[in-house]
Amino acid sequence: LATIDHVLFLACGTSWHAALLGKRFLEQIARVHVEVDISSEYRYRNPIAAGGTLVVAISQSGETADTLASVRLARSKFLPVLSLVNVPESTIARESDGVMPLLAGPEIGVASTKAYTGQVLALYLFALQLGRAKGRLSAEECSTRIAAVAELPELVGRTLQETEPAVAAAADLFAAARDSVFLGRVGEYPTALEGALKLKEIAYVTAHGYAAGEFKHGPIALVTAKLPVICLCPPGAMHDKMLSNIEEVRARDGRIIAVGAADDDALDAIADHLFPVAVPADELLQPLLTVLPLQRYALLVAQRRGCDVDQPRNLAKSVTVE
Ligand code: G6P
Repeated sequence: LATIDHVLFLACGTSWHAALLGKRFLEQIARVHVEVDISSEYRYRNPIAAGGTLVVAISQSGETADTLASVRLARSKFLPVLSLVNVPESTIARESDGVMPLLAGPEIGVASTKAYTGQVLALYLFALQLGRAKGRLSAEECSTRIAAVAELPELVGRTLQETEPAVAAAADLFAAARDSVFLGRVGEYPTALEGALKLKEIAYVTAHGYAAGEFKHGPIALVTAKLPVICLCPPGAMHDKMLSNIEEVRARDGRIIAVGAADDDALDAIADHLFPVAVPADELLQPLLTVLPLQRYALLVAQRRGCDVDQPRNLAKSVTVE
């Protein structure tokens, strides 16, 4: 790991969203240059293979055709491939130079949830390891971050419990909404994409995730008094910027569902609904908590719309053909 200068993540769907967070972790903790590509794009764009690059393929199933083809292409260019998979005996695992098993247990539901949590967590731990190997993370800072990880199970339990009433109330109110928008910045941008994907996958709602700073460049024209806008605004460096984005939505009468800290009075005042998530000791870990009420929201909206969440139409758990 000490010789790696560049990491390239390859993945599809929810695994691609986890990869976007992996980029953040590796850049912030190990200060390594990272690129993220969608497998179906990488395989057809005649990519350049730079020396010192490690390819990390992320796939819950380890069987996704586009990711497998990308792994083969990367290896044909003599790039080492590490795979992060939940099925250690899968094809992608067998064809990789190294494997990081996710150990999340079999995931049955088509819409990935626990595998996403496992992937994000594994990528955080990988960033710690890379940071240590490259001498960019002190042993002390590493211990502090690991202590923050150890607190997560309690924070996850608390978040699920404390957000549920507000999530159910919002689902009751917005179950009939045809469109939804999710906004987040930096660490919460992948959460916005993932929240929107969940709502599309299981509730068949047209949902868009945007980097909140991009919203004014066109999509803000979508806002009406009928549009639920789910705004990820936990404490941290992006909080005040997000609040300004929320004010822009409010000024156009959008219905605001905010995800943030329970004691955030400014956020509570501007939002129609607040999903009160726990706040971890390390800000980088916040997306593991903010995604939870969005997964629950998608589930409850889908149930209220009469959708079969276990067998969503047109979807397969593992896409093994192109
Ligand atoms: C399918 C599933 C998604 C999943 C994607 C990637 O489209 O419906 O939930 O995120 O494949 O799957 P993988 O097994 O490669 O992570």
